[in-house]
Amino acid sequence: MHVKNWIKFNNRLLPNIDKKMENDSSEKKINNIWGGRFSSSTDGIMEEFNSSIQFDKILYLEDIEGSLAHSEMLSKQKIISNKDFELIKTGLNQIKDEISKNEFTFSMKLEDIHMNIENRLVEIIGDPGKKLHTARSRNDQVATDIKLWLRKEIDEIDLNLLSLQKSLIEKAEMYYDLLMPGYTHLQVAQPITFGHHLLSYVEMLGRDRGRLADCRKRLNESPLGSAALAGTSYPIDRDFVARKLKFDKPTDNSMDAVSDRDFAIEFMSASSLIAIHLSRLAEELVIWSSDRFNFIKLPESFTTGSSIMPQKRNPDAAELIRAKPGRIFGNLFSLMTVLKGLPMTYGKDMQEDKEPIFDTVKTIKLCLIIMTGMVKKLEPIPHKMMEALQNGFPTATDLADYLVTNLAIPFRDAHHFTGKVVLLAESKSCSLENLTLEDIRTVIPNADNNILNVLKIENSVSKRTSYGGTAPKNVLMAIKKAKLKFLGNKK
Ligand code: ARG
Repeated sequence: MHVKNWIKFNNRLLPNIDKKMENDSSEKKINNIWGGRFSSSTDGIMEEFNSSIQFDKILYLEDIEGSLAHSEMLSKQKIISNKDFELIKTGLNQIKDEISKNEFTFSMKLEDIHMNIENRLVEIIGDPGKKLHTARSRNDQVATDIKLWLRKEIDEIDLNLLSLQKSLIEKAEMYYDLLMPGYTHLQVAQPITFGHHLLSYVEMLGRDRGRLADCRKRLNESPLGSAALAGTSYPIDRDFVARKLKFDKPTDNSMDAVSDRDFAIEFMSASSLIAIHLSRLAEELVIWSSDRFNFIKLPESFTTGSSIMPQKRNPDAAELIRAKPGRIFGNLFSLMTVLKGLPMTYGKDMQEDKEPIFDTVKTIKLCLIIMTGMVKKLEPIPHKMMEALQNGFPTATDLADYLVTNLAIPFRDAHHFTGKVVLLAESKSCSLENLTLEDIRTVIPNADNNILNVLKIENSVSKRTSYGGTAPKNVLMAIKKAKLKFLGNKK
């Protein structure tokens, strides 16, 4: 919301949303769109409360696109003349121009983008402009506009997700065999490769893209022609309009069409999962770049300094991404709450759908773009990763497995012996790798030389070749597959 000035109401100052908004506080003219039934004008504060133009003007392109398709259909069906259609088309294109050049004066009195545009159309072309709204209502119009807008945004977000996948895959390829600790409970668990870790996010983002595609598919039906709620008696051609607007088909039930916002909730649920995934990666970046871990160096372009502590380099970008699910979940809950228990069909409540949708789109896009920038430029610090590995006894599972396979010790006992070896290393303040055969024989008398290889971190990783495992050769294979699956190429 862009607050440029303030209005006084009941001795309190309230924001007056936009400077470019007509500010007619004199004796109110009766609203000329629905004023026929009204004998007095709307209170100024009601106008502000009722209007959505402050935020729905973002839909102007889609509103005009929908009106063009609708009026072309009206003319094709001989509901309006071809001449009127041509005039409407010229007028709408002029309005598009005016808005894009910021030369359009939006009026809160005209409530929303639909009436602002229609009113201007009548100003420009006169009476033929009054025919545009034949066989249409703002109810089917607004549903169409949001669908058109969101469909475009879903396609953009899909591209943003793809770019992030691409940068993760590229990093994974550079570091397919870089050893680092893998964690459970944020305790060192087993050695993994950095490449394998990064690819886990590529999978999550792949599912996110699938969810968006699914939502887009269900969204892609045209509400136009459902009119207010019951359809219309004019001989319209809904298929024609649907085709023009690249919808798969018209919606099947006019009441459902004007009251459905499932697609927005689906979109915001899918976005919530994207936000969850991004926040997990963001948290790892915060942890990895912290002094204690020091596994990675974040690019200066995405970190900030402190105003008081000169030594600081704070991971603000990652922290903000970690925090954004707050508003993304909030937006989802806000719309779910608005729709819950709403009787059929349209209720003005539904005007509350827009800000959460717009905010979710903006936030998700920003987070994806920023995260991609960070991933592209982050640099791992291999010796710090190795240091952490050596302190964490991460090859203990390998030792237990070795005892099972080679010394025929049952796994539970092997687990117990291994625990004792770990204790021994701990008491000697050394890593498992640095124990000697003699040391190990104090716990496992029949241990042979091979056991020393088992304790080596590289060996632990290179042996994890089960499908989906972390062995560098698997990671290389997984990269190839991910490129094919997500980036559509073999390189
Ligand atoms: N600005 C309204 C909205 O966003 C448009 C639809 C208005 N329809 C109505 N019957 N008042 O929902």
